[in-house]
Amino acid sequence: MLLQKISLHNFRNFKKEIFEFSPHLTLIVGENARGKTNLLESIHCIANGIGYRETEEEELVRIGEEILEARGVFQSDEKKYEFQIIFQRKEKGIVRNFFFNKAPKKLFLYQQETTKVVLFSPEQISIITGTPEKRRNYFDKIISSYDYEYKKRLHNLESALYKRNKILECYKNIEELKEDLVFWNGYIIEQATYITQKRQGYIDFLNIHNKVDSKEFHINYVKNKITHERLEEYFEKEIRYRRTQIGPQKDDFILFQDKDLHKFGSRSEQRLGIFWLKLNEIKFYEKIFKKKPIILLDDIFSELDKKNKKLVLNLIKNYQTIITATEEEMFEKVEVEKRIIRL
Ligand SMILES: Nc1ncnc2c1ncn2[C@@H]1O[C@H](COP(=O)(O)OP(=O)(O)OP(=O)(O)O)[C@@H](O)[C@H]1O
Ligand SMILES: [Mg+2]
Repeated sequence: MLLQKISLHNFRNFKKEIFEFSPHLTLIVGENARGKTNLLESIHCIANGIGYRETEEEELVRIGEEILEARGVFQSDEKKYEFQIIFQRKEKGIVRNFFFNKAPKKLFLYQQETTKVVLFSPEQISIITGTPEKRRNYFDKIISSYDYEYKKRLHNLESALYKRNKILECYKNIEELKEDLVFWNGYIIEQATYITQKRQGYIDFLNIHNKVDSKEFHINYVKNKITHERLEEYFEKEIRYRRTQIGPQKDDFILFQDKDLHKFGSRSEQRLGIFWLKLNEIKFYEKIFKKKPIILLDDIFSELDKKNKKLVLNLIKNYQTIITATEEEMFEKVEVEKRIIRL
């Protein structure tokens, strides 16, 4: 499915705009703060129903306005499909509505209809440089996008941990505590088993598709297992800290390219590590959904040397790609049919 055009109404700095895209390569060019990233974010929002920056959804609505509307027209086999999101500010927060071909849809069903977009932006280096939580969130988002059961189990785990921690915080008598924990221990182990298995499945996929050009990558899934035996082992510590000490909420993922990229990678090595993750996100979506995703590249060319730029462009040439840049000259030598949006 290819993106043909989008219309935005009160999306971040855009009051009312229409943008059209090439089926191959579209460049969004403009000086700083013109709305290049916002435009990419709007595509991400239309396709995924959610933004990609770690912001509150109300920040997506133009300052001083109440309703945001964004609509995308996609084409596949001569047929047109329309996706629309409407976010409205209310006292209690944002109310979100999703429509596919004008029919209202729940978010998950909406997401099943749309084409996937894969975003690559400089901030994502924090998947490598940031906390384990960043990495868990990154993988959880991918797995949740095709596995509703996984999403449900993550939610179950989170609320079960909350309740288990409350019990640990408030207990007065050890025997009673043990009794109170029996149900939650079993329940959490059940959720964790599913989550761990799915995370392992995705990591195995990455480790099979481990090459970018001549470079080989690898990822280590560091599981924080939760079993009845380990819970007994950690019982004293749990009492001391009054908090659950083990489980997939503490898993981590370590990226290697010869060396540990988190500790020893240079900026460009780390960036290529992210690019490897992103390339596999693309391959994975194609495998699961049998559709080609759309690739969004935000401002990454200013940070790559000539060789890496060429490598990236070569690897994405068979996809519909939308790239932002401050200078048009960066793409003068790119010999693909391209459309330029000047902001
Ligand atoms: N909800 C909002 N309402 C109005 N304006 C907003 C909103 N959210 C962000 N903006 C503004 O939109 C402008 C464009 O932001 P954006 O991040 O898209 O710029 P950019 O073109 O990507 O810039 P850069 O080259 O620095 O990356 C900024 O001035 C930002 O403050
Ligand atoms: Mg930007």
